[in-house]
Amino acid sequence: MRKDFGSKTWFYPLPVLIIGTYNEDGTPDAMNAAWGGIYDSDKVVLCLSAGHKTTANIKAKGAFTVSFADAANVVASDYVGLVSANNQPRKMEKSGFHTTKSSFVDAPLIDELPVAVECEFIKVNEDGNIIGRIVNISVDESVLDGEGGIDFAKFRPISFEPAHAGYHVMGDRVGNAFSDGSQLK
Ligand SMILES: Cc1cc2nc3c(=O)[nH]c(=O)nc-3n(C[C@H](O)[C@H](O)[C@H](O)COP(=O)(O)O)c2cc1C
Repeated sequence: MRKDFGSKTWFYPLPVLIIGTYNEDGTPDAMNAAWGGIYDSDKVVLCLSAGHKTTANIKAKGAFTVSFADAANVVASDYVGLVSANNQPRKMEKSGFHTTKSSFVDAPLIDELPVAVECEFIKVNEDGNIIGRIVNISVDESVLDGEGGIDFAKFRPISFEPAHAGYHVMGDRVGNAFSDGSQLK
């Protein structure tokens, strides 16, 4: 037997993306976005409400960063999803996040979040979603392994679980992509 829950935005795993932008006065903003992902082979799509400060910032500055919230920064990551820079000018200070300007785009990197995608804004698509081109992947050396790649024992991205409004840390490796299925060919 299966149970039907109807039309909901339950989707697994949903990311916890922290979108970094600059306000018009050059101060940073960040917001939490679960509705976003890879689009095409070199682009990112974000489903952002038009009224968010972040949405206006992306259009004005032509750039944004996407950092992946991790287990060490759950409270700050949730906070930037609860409070808008439209209403709280001290949002970033209160979040505890610190920022450094990206070398590639006019947007801030979040110092506490070690893995980020730096994007230039391309357009708003016909459904009102933000499309950006990936210009660079930025990884803090604190989460690199001996060969210079990302070490998932050190980098612990979280996922948003919409049915119970929870955050879960990415778990154990259970397989090899583009490989394990070959045994059934
Ligand atoms: C878990 C979580 C996921 C969210 N996902 C989105 C999203 O995908 N799109 C969106 O427009 N808002 C989303 N929000 C809400 C924004 O993060 C929130 O409205 C934020 O205050 C906007 O900040 P800003 O106005 O400073 O840009 C999410 C919030 C949380 C807590």
